[in-house]
Amino acid sequence: MKKLIIINGPNLNLLGKREPSIYGSLSFTEFLDTIKGKYLNVSLDYFQSNIEGELIDKIQEFGFNYDGIILNAAAYTHTSVGIGDAIKAIETPVIEVHISNTFGREEFRHQSYISPNAKGVILGFGLQSYELAIQSFLD
Ligand code: DQA
Repeated sequence: MKKLIIINGPNLNLLGKREPSIYGSLSFTEFLDTIKGKYLNVSLDYFQSNIEGELIDKIQEFGFNYDGIILNAAAYTHTSVGIGDAIKAIETPVIEVHISNTFGREEFRHQSYISPNAKGVILGFGLQSYELAIQSFLD
């Protein structure tokens, strides 16, 4: 059984309430329940934090014993050299995901410290971005 983890960064705990015109009206826990029910052959864990260092701690902790990390570093995507370095340091492949199409938004969202070291990037498909990332680890 593949062992995957979704790691979400700042403000993604507010999904469903936060700017629903951009991020949708479903909470992440509701979405996660659906996904877990759909992918019974995957061991799927979840971690969310608003704190950059906690995200780095978890990337280090899971980065040597999981088959894949699905990472939405949210705003830290565009600012965090530390998260970029953590991805370089680990063995587990990381797929970067975003709910929105960051390239269709403000200029500062076009920069990513995650992408250069990610296995791949999936963005702009709403919460389905996460599901596409899961599928890519199963193929
Ligand atoms: C996001 C895009 C980021 O620019 C933003 O800061 C987020 C969410 C997305 O999933 O679309 O918080 O990562």
